Amino acid sequence: MKIVVIQGPNLNMLGHREQNIYGPMKLEDIHTQMKNFAEQNGMEIEFFQSNLEGEIVDKIQECLGDADGIIINPAAYTHTSIAIRDAISAVQIPTVEVHLSNIYAREDFRHKSLTAPVCAGQVSGFGPFGYHMAMVAIVQIMNEIKAMREAQQAQK
Ligand code: DQA
Repeated sequence: MKIVVIQGPNLNMLGHREQNIYGPMKLEDIHTQMKNFAEQNGMEIEFFQSNLEGEIVDKIQECLGDADGIIINPAAYTHTSIAIRDAISAVQIPTVEVHLSNIYAREDFRHKSLTAPVCAGQVSGFGPFGYHMAMVAIVQIMNEIKAMREAQQAQK
């Protein structure tokens, strides 16, 4: 099982950027924790960060036939990008959206996520721990898909 983690604009600035909102942890430290969890659970994991919308769309498309699950923090594109939403919708890979901050407790323009409706679910407001929650959610979704396929197979 392979998970691809996609990080949007300015998340490469974590640790430096608005620490009162996003905390002191650097993106690479968050990824190290995720890698450890993946290894402990026999999962493959790949990390990708970009500040460019088109590159994020390309990466989502590349997941087709390569990834079993996607964890994405589209960052500011959450609130603006129909292209990223359409890409998530197109690949039909179980996707969990993560936000470090609670976007519903912030400015009005952050309250709307264009991407969440095409994701399996969203985790918002738990800081770096949200990425761990997203990984647990992906494992659960994978197990449910597997059980469903096995049940369908048994009916044949
Ligand atoms: C964010 C929330 C977004 O509104 C913001 O633009 C970000 C980070 C978060 O993780 O809390 O860049 O996605």
